[in-house]
Amino acid sequence: CGIVGYIGHRDAYPIVIKGLQRLEYRGYDSAGVVLFDGEDTHLAKTKGKVEDLKHKAEITISTNGKLGLGHTRWATHGVPNDVNSHPHYSNSGDLVIIHNGIIENYESLKKALIKRGYSFESDTDTEVLINLIEEVKKKEGVKLGKAVQIALNQVVGAYAIAVFDKNKPDEIVVAKLGSPLAIGIGENEFFIASDASPFIEFTNNAVYLEDEEMAIIRIGKEIKLRKIKDDAIAYPNILELQLNLEEIEKGGYDHFMLKEIYEQPRAILDTYRGRLLADQGLIRMAGIDQNLEKFINANRIIIVACGTSWHAGLVAEYIFEDLARIPVEVEYASEFRYRNPVITDKDVLIAISQSGETADTLAAIKMAKEKGAFVFGVCNVVGSSIARETHAGAYTHAGPEIGVASTKAFTTQITVLSLIALKLAKEKGAMSESKFHEYLTELEGIPSKVEKTLESNKLIEEIAEVYKDSTNCLYLGRGYNFPVALEGALKLKEISYIHAEGYPAAEMKHGPIALIDEEMPVVVIATKKGHYEKVVSNIQEIKSRSGKIIAIVTEGDKSVKEIADHVIEVPETSEPMTPLLTTIPLQLLSYHIALMRGCNVDQPRNLAKSVTVE
Ligand code: G6P
Repeated sequence: CGIVGYIGHRDAYPIVIKGLQRLEYRGYDSAGVVLFDGEDTHLAKTKGKVEDLKHKAEITISTNGKLGLGHTRWATHGVPNDVNSHPHYSNSGDLVIIHNGIIENYESLKKALIKRGYSFESDTDTEVLINLIEEVKKKEGVKLGKAVQIALNQVVGAYAIAVFDKNKPDEIVVAKLGSPLAIGIGENEFFIASDASPFIEFTNNAVYLEDEEMAIIRIGKEIKLRKIKDDAIAYPNILELQLNLEEIEKGGYDHFMLKEIYEQPRAILDTYRGRLLADQGLIRMAGIDQNLEKFINANRIIIVACGTSWHAGLVAEYIFEDLARIPVEVEYASEFRYRNPVITDKDVLIAISQSGETADTLAAIKMAKEKGAFVFGVCNVVGSSIARETHAGAYTHAGPEIGVASTKAFTTQITVLSLIALKLAKEKGAMSESKFHEYLTELEGIPSKVEKTLESNKLIEEIAEVYKDSTNCLYLGRGYNFPVALEGALKLKEISYIHAEGYPAAEMKHGPIALIDEEMPVVVIATKKGHYEKVVSNIQEIKSRSGKIIAIVTEGDKSVKEIADHVIEVPETSEPMTPLLTTIPLQLLSYHIALMRGCNVDQPRNLAKSVTVE
């Protein structure tokens, strides 16, 4: 879901449409646009993609106007259809709104509004909000900004909104709680968007609203920021953005996902650059260096995350325990926050999040902070909510990840977490100096080994051809590669819609083995280090039940080659670093299968890139 807005001297329509396309990666199921042409508003919205919206808008409405708002919706209340799409008008038709997020108490607000004579076209919580704003405005006789503020104080939930009044078309009011909202500042023009990608070609100056802040954006005036709760004036912190356009475009690849898979050697390198100093035999990370005591004295590390980031957390559990001898628990943020966990000030919580906006992860952080834990963030998006909310952190330097299915974020998260584990292992004296050096050199060599692994692309495409029509798929791995099996299965599910499950290889005999027949492809990670013999036995068990075996093996492997139907080789590396290599073929496999099945690889159905709802 995403929002875009423009007010200024240019035609708003092309800016808004292009902006929506840039935000497509966030995932959505319907889209809409509204324009003000100096006299009236013109609105078009539709279920489907921005391309469908463009088509509809260009034949049904006038697309003129220097003020425009656009929206992509990921359904929460009300099915994805034309009517429920945004923008929404108020009953009088004067006010227009776009909204990301969720109004939790919308039912009671709606009932009260209906009693007072309001009617509703859609099933959305958003239409409730715009009518609430309208009612406040009329009843209290206040200006739009004030009405928005009063209304938002009655709302429970999360939002990033933009509202304007067609009788006062030099002004847009925006507000944020939970969902991100950036304002781009140009010369006598303003841009509004969920992130900076829609306006980066027009301006590098941006203000990111904080939670519970609102802004009145008026042509010819400076932005006015206020706190929604107590009306206090806030001062805009204007940032100069470093993003460039190239980074957010496909650069010759057919899909963002493929581009991002291929960017991994560079992304991993960027992530350890300046931190891993192999020649000096040290790791330098400001966020850790400044808080070393906290980590060294921690009773345990609790890792919270969702989705792919949670899988990176599982890999980290193995690395931290194995190398640094620190007990680790890995939790789904959504479970952790609601189960009254035991947290003390001796705990260190690491939150992992690509977007830095995931609502459950953010809530888990807030809770852990309240209970006295030291909270460390591993985020990719600079300046994101999680990056701001944590006590300290380390960014992954993956660059913008646009494909909904996470790839380079995962491997760079593992890179950061490996650096932290190694650093702590050394500081705690849990690892010998020579072993430490060995790992540093090994990690430094990973980008070229990823490069090498990517050379299997053609072979993987051929394997994909064989299994593209499967209805199920099992992924198995042990130890460090168990989380990789989970991640491989998630990738396939997400983008090809094939049912897939990841399992610890040894657990197969406690259930999934019952599913195995000649129709069932089983992807097994069977690299040389780490329970190799045991995994080979598991492969035998699959073979004797006629399952089809796709094995990820270490270069030069012989035993597995004899029994597996297909083998994909990865270069040899030390065990804790194998996930950085074994993940790559699984990403490519899901990419090719999804493509062959005609799926939308970058924007899989029902999924969102940045999940700012609980
Ligand atoms: C969504 C995305 C996943 C991602 C997860 C966590 O479900 O589709 O790819 O892993 O959120 O996101 P985060 O930004 O916190 O890593």
